[in-house]
Amino acid sequence: MAIPVLFSALVLLVALLCCHATAALQQLAHDVGCVHLPVVHSTKVDRFSDKRGIQLQLANRSDVAYYAQLSIGTPPQPVFVQLDTGSFELWVNPDCTTVSGSDAVFCERAGRYDVTKSSTATSLGTNRTLRYGIGAANISYFTDTISLAGSPMMLQDVQFGVATASEDAFSGILGIGYGKGIGTGYPNFVDQLWEQNVTRVKAYTLALGSKDSQEGVIVFGGVDTSKFAGKLARLPVIPPAQSPDGVPRFWVEMKSLSITRPSGLNTVYDGGAMPVFLDSGSTMTLLPANLTMAVARDFGAQAPDANGFYKIDCALTALNGTLDFAFDGVTVRVPYKELTREVASNPPSCFLGIVASDRFTLLGDTFLRSAYTVFDLETDSIWMAPAVNCGSSPAALSNVQDLSAVTGECGVREIAESTSSTQVPSTGVDDTEAGAVPTSTTTVVSQPSGTTTQMGARPTLDNASNPLGAHRLTWVLVITAALHLFTGI
Ligand SMILES: *[C@@H]1O[C@H](CO)[C@@H](O)[C@H](O)[C@H]1NC(C)=O
Ligand SMILES: *[C@@H]1O[C@H](CO)[C@@H](O)[C@H](O)[C@H]1NC(C)=O
Ligand SMILES: *[C@@H]1O[C@H](CO)[C@@H](O)[C@H](O)[C@H]1NC(C)=O
Ligand SMILES: *[C@@H]1O[C@H](CO)[C@@H](O)[C@H](O)[C@H]1NC(C)=O
Ligand SMILES: *[C@@H]1O[C@H](CO)[C@@H](O)[C@H](O)[C@H]1NC(C)=O
Ligand SMILES: *[C@@H]1O[C@H](CO)[C@@H](O)[C@H](O)[C@H]1NC(C)=O
Ligand SMILES: *[C@@H]1O[C@H](CO)[C@@H](O)[C@H](O)[C@H]1NC(C)=O
Repeated sequence: MAIPVLFSALVLLVALLCCHATAALQQLAHDVGCVHLPVVHSTKVDRFSDKRGIQLQLANRSDVAYYAQLSIGTPPQPVFVQLDTGSFELWVNPDCTTVSGSDAVFCERAGRYDVTKSSTATSLGTNRTLRYGIGAANISYFTDTISLAGSPMMLQDVQFGVATASEDAFSGILGIGYGKGIGTGYPNFVDQLWEQNVTRVKAYTLALGSKDSQEGVIVFGGVDTSKFAGKLARLPVIPPAQSPDGVPRFWVEMKSLSITRPSGLNTVYDGGAMPVFLDSGSTMTLLPANLTMAVARDFGAQAPDANGFYKIDCALTALNGTLDFAFDGVTVRVPYKELTREVASNPPSCFLGIVASDRFTLLGDTFLRSAYTVFDLETDSIWMAPAVNCGSSPAALSNVQDLSAVTGECGVREIAESTSSTQVPSTGVDDTEAGAVPTSTTTVVSQPSGTTTQMGARPTLDNASNPLGAHRLTWVLVITAALHLFTGI
């Protein structure tokens, strides 16, 4: 297809060198400006397993979190870490004995870093406690070499934490929020990519991928123009001093929240304009209680369960409706299916992907799967478009200003396909003017196609886990938003 005219020639040149580097070109790779890693869904079986039995176990996990693989040390030790835009630091080696069942299996399979087996490891002799919305870790700081799966590039002397104790964590975390001088007292992973000239810009792109695609991409230092259509809207990041919690997160102004029912009828919710932050480390989207309640009612849930989750009819996931998150210049329409947490109990259970919180207003994975997002830490901007998937073309940026000229390559056809979710089944479910709620309660609940997951036979969510109580983790969800800032050492 024709290359979008405004797309910078330099960007394209670099793209060819960099992101499609062949073996012959790899010695150039240090100069070429971007690194792209697959973003792995916890449901993607083959990525997390090397034994068939384990595959089945992991295949039962819900779409709780998103991972990328790092190789740490010399020789390299592969470790999966959770990609987290809501925190600032990298750490590995959670205590897998503090989580149970399939979480523990997953935890073991994600890989561990043995500091004694790396010739390049250096202990910094300092410790810290990191606390998250759910979970905590005591870490000791080390520096070591970190290489990136699928890339010949290596970062030297990267500071990160090795856990000496943790609770409610089933993988290490790659915090990719603001680093040196803002969220941390030292250069974090994103800073190091830039400082060591692996990337030319301090920016990265996150496309988590839809539930059906099971794989997304993160491009450090670049974009992937095959993951969206048209232009990116620029949203200024709200400075910490003006943000609701004073923390340098990726806070942006949401303009409104509305629902587009399968009939096409759109209703705007009251009170949808507010600051929200973008947090890939949160399974769920967290919104004020009254707004959550209003959305939940439109999904047929009258009240939350004991854990604060809204149980909904799984038949809704097959309907062609969306929850529409509007920002200045871009509206992300999240299909019902992507908005839903599906749990493979028997029969399957489904939960609204939004929970009420008086602590955070954040857009988590149940939103981010449907968005294409560039986190630009140079000009403190979020660049956003609705996610569309029409292939793979990661490309480096030489300058963040080029983002205003970048055009997604996906066409109208792919947009239609990606927003129409699954085909409307003939289950007798229909939507009414009053709402998206099935009118017939005797409807046979259809198993949504593409449902992978899930966690096994537990019939309901574990009521010992209050998502807002921020204590016991179960397989239900994670919230890795850092509770405190830890600047300086
Ligand atoms: C850091 O933690 C380790 C492991 O718990 C401990 O052995 C060490 O004494 C601690 N160092 C400091 C400076 O507190
Ligand atoms: C982490 O360290 C703190 C402070 O030293 C300590 O109180 C806490 O018990 C430790 N946590 C775990 C899980 O060991
Ligand atoms: C990165 O590039 C800059 C500018 O070309 C140079 O000054 C700096 O030394 C380089 N840093 C590394 C670690 O290669
Ligand atoms: C929720 O409460 C806020 C503040 O009281 C109000 O502005 C907003 O309209 C309410 N939203 C809904 C959906 O009731
Ligand atoms: C879904 O809804 C959109 C907009 O209302 C419409 O354009 C599209 O054709 C619908 N798709 C299906 C499969 O009904
Ligand atoms: C996972 O799913 C497989 C196949 O559906 C089933 O055989 C297995 O028992 C499940 N594992 C757990 C832990 O529930
Ligand atoms: C969870 O629910 C079960 C069944 O309703 C109940 O027996 C149990 O006490 C509850 N646990 C907690 C911690 O609330």
